[in-house]
Amino acid sequence: MKIAFFSAKPYDKQSFETVNQTYKREIDYFEERLSVRTAKLANGYGAVCVFVNDALDDETLQILASQGTRLIALRCSGFNNVDLEAADRLGLTAVRVPAYSPHSVAEHAVALMLTLNRKIHRAHARVREGNFNLEGLLGFDMNQKTAGIVGLGKIGIIVAKILSGFGCRLLASDPYPPEGWETIGLRLVSLSELFTESDIVSLHCPLMPETHHLIGEGALRQMKDGVMLINTSRGALVDANAVIRALKSGKIGYLGLDVYEEEADLFFRDLSGKVIQDDVFARLLTFPNVIVTGHQAFFTENALRKIAETTMDNIVEFEKNGICANRVTLERIAS
Ligand code: NAI
Repeated sequence: MKIAFFSAKPYDKQSFETVNQTYKREIDYFEERLSVRTAKLANGYGAVCVFVNDALDDETLQILASQGTRLIALRCSGFNNVDLEAADRLGLTAVRVPAYSPHSVAEHAVALMLTLNRKIHRAHARVREGNFNLEGLLGFDMNQKTAGIVGLGKIGIIVAKILSGFGCRLLASDPYPPEGWETIGLRLVSLSELFTESDIVSLHCPLMPETHHLIGEGALRQMKDGVMLINTSRGALVDANAVIRALKSGKIGYLGLDVYEEEADLFFRDLSGKVIQDDVFARLLTFPNVIVTGHQAFFTENALRKIAETTMDNIVEFEKNGICANRVTLERIAS
């Protein structure tokens, strides 16, 4: 099966080419994001391989199906960018990489927490200028702080375990907590209780209609003054305008983002010579207590290798059997 690989970056090509020495499939790499505009590039390819900001809406999927594509191989775990109802209707199968390195994302979430708390970003800039003044760099002990984890899946569990090592009090909210959560030493609570009691709130649930803007005015009102909010999950879990108001009022004391609702027009490319047109994003960058990384939480050597291996396994399994264990189904969204 020929594979049209969209949003290809040099590091993607490197990891897939290495792994493809074993699989020996024909892969053509396109730098373009997959969208209605670029779907024609996939003409004649049985599979498209896509990432988080490729837009697989109904119209794009119709073009893909009419050109002979049968498989959408997501090289990520989230699948909110695929219209699964349309895919189902058009006979397209979507497969994903359910877990490649939950450690990569969990560790990045904790890196954001520690950087914000101890103001490493500001200290680094100061010291390089010969300024060794400590004024404004005061942090707090993580030990005994209450951390609330929203979504106790593969990533959330690891965040909980790391924070447990720091001596944090742990709360979690999850409608479907995994087996064995009791052994981690956390308390499962309602979202409301988590918001009210936590010093740190870290988001690790998927983006679905029910979780869209989970963090908006209502949730922020319930949180402690000066709360730390971390989002390494999906941008649209957070209402950025509400968060900006909360940063201005001091309700949010620290904000760490690896994802942003409108990131598709920004992330994964060098815009350093351009003027950022997104005023909400530009405003976020002005706060001294905000750190934004450009969707890099997954970006470790281990994760890239595993992503390439699982994606190729998915494609081969689909080629052989017409089905795949890592298929994304509408029922999976509901659960
Ligand atoms: P997972 O599927 O293992 O866990 C998600 C958990 O969220 C499940 O236990 C589920 O029951 C829970 N959940 C569902 N609805 C919820 C709600 N309303 N409130 C609280 N919990 C809810 O997923 P995993 O692998 O832990 O990934 C979590 C998210 O991280 C993904 O959905 C993806 O969007 C994001 N992600 C971000 C990456 C990055 O580079 N920044 C890389 C990989 C994943």
